[in-house]
Amino acid sequence: MTTRPEAWHRSAVIYEVAVHSFQDSNGDGFGDLAGMTKRLDYLEWLGIDAVWLLPIMPSPMRDGGYDVSNLTGVRPEFGTIDDVKAFVADAHSRGIHVLTDFVINHTSDQHPWFQESRQPGSPKRDWYVWSDSPDRYSDARVIFIDAHDSNWAWDETAGAYYWHRFFDHQPDLNFENPEVREAVKDAVRFWLDLGLDGLRLDAVPYLFEEDGTNCENLPGTHAYLKELRAMVDAEYPGTVLLAEANQWPEELLPYFGDDDECHMAFHFPLMPRLFLSLAIGDVAPVDDIIMRTPAPPPNSRWALFLRNHDEVTLEMVTESERAAMIDAYAPDPSMRKNLGIRRRLTPMLGNDRRKIELLNAVLLSLPGAPVIYYGDEIGMGDIHTLNDRDGVRTPMQWDSSASGGWSSADPADFYLPVVATEEYGPTAVNVAAQMSDPESLLSFTRHILQTRHDTPELSEAGYERLEVDSTSVLAYARDSVLVFANFSGQPQSVPANGTILAGNASLAEGSLDLPPLGWAWVRTDEQTP
Ligand code: BGC
Repeated sequence: MTTRPEAWHRSAVIYEVAVHSFQDSNGDGFGDLAGMTKRLDYLEWLGIDAVWLLPIMPSPMRDGGYDVSNLTGVRPEFGTIDDVKAFVADAHSRGIHVLTDFVINHTSDQHPWFQESRQPGSPKRDWYVWSDSPDRYSDARVIFIDAHDSNWAWDETAGAYYWHRFFDHQPDLNFENPEVREAVKDAVRFWLDLGLDGLRLDAVPYLFEEDGTNCENLPGTHAYLKELRAMVDAEYPGTVLLAEANQWPEELLPYFGDDDECHMAFHFPLMPRLFLSLAIGDVAPVDDIIMRTPAPPPNSRWALFLRNHDEVTLEMVTESERAAMIDAYAPDPSMRKNLGIRRRLTPMLGNDRRKIELLNAVLLSLPGAPVIYYGDEIGMGDIHTLNDRDGVRTPMQWDSSASGGWSSADPADFYLPVVATEEYGPTAVNVAAQMSDPESLLSFTRHILQTRHDTPELSEAGYERLEVDSTSVLAYARDSVLVFANFSGQPQSVPANGTILAGNASLAEGSLDLPPLGWAWVRTDEQTP
């Protein structure tokens, strides 16, 4: 397949936003699309290429909007269809692309499709996965282990069990049914007709079920995604499909197909290993997973991230690695969720600026499209005592006022509270103060994004591992750009020649001196140091 000029995703830096917490434009305590539009000046200034909106469809909000009660509408608190169009048009005028979440695997139990499906004799019965017994598909793992111990729930009206891979109020759609496959395609068309540039396909590995398997990554799932891609390519060229699949690299690779399935897929196993390597001061975990990661087809990209709106998922590490991470990053049980850690980047890293910069420098220089989680660019904190994963989805802190300037509503009416601690509340952490401080984390972020933009090798070149004489230095070449990252608290020296593009190391006479937790991007004429 030839590379299309529209392949903007290949060099994109994506900014992930919980719309309900970004900017409230009408004073109801709930962030909205008009608020997003107001804040486009900021996003343009920051220098990101695309915005990914968490789900904005109608929803009872029992799972942060991933419980959708109408796949073809906008939750009124977020705004209207026209607000979506206005946001997209304004973003486009600034060269910013817009993706939104599309919850493909399941709906809310409040969706009319499910309400019809559960009625005895309903023509829609087959739209969801029903069974007389809760014993089918017993090899499938339970994902939300804090909430459930089975993927089946009993429905009194239907007189049957329904299948749910997530909460029991989120029944899985039955993709065996051609009507469902078509209805989902129509819903995709609905969103793309609004001018969006891409969809994050939520929870894609679980579309199909089959006895005797773990019900993940099944051939039917890949076949359907290929159909969807063909439709998107034909009807909405340039539109990107981003797969959310918490899987090992070798299971993720098929989601790209032969450049004919999803354009992008999140790299889940890399993320915990970055934190693990930092905790133990040894780059082996990161190095191992990179070596185990196949290159995607030419027009496809990994989507790389440090943190997002969920817990730091620890499914893709061994039990002892998980224990080491819990020990290092989630000493308090309230910081844990399911198999993972519900904390934001900065508190997880002990508010250590060196660690934050180091991980961002690696994130922004590995092959793939980096995804930055809103608020992490200013070092926002979290409230890990809030329900489920809400603690990492609190309001954006724009200024030093007690509400952080995100809403004029009475704080008692805020959908989620603003962080209020001395260390992380708006007085200490806010956009306005950091914008005018050249030494701030925000200024650092903006600057490193600019450097990345000016360094096309970081988007396009392959990955070449460099041998260095230290187990704490991750070293790699992206064509003529060399990256060195010191994951330990001790200074390290490695041989290198060239010019430093970014970082806090010093380079003289063929030696690069990395301070503790230091890093550098170096442009060289040589391929190896
Ligand atoms: C989303 C979660 C959500 C789950 C169920 C995901 O993987 O990222 O936030 O709870 O899907 O929809």
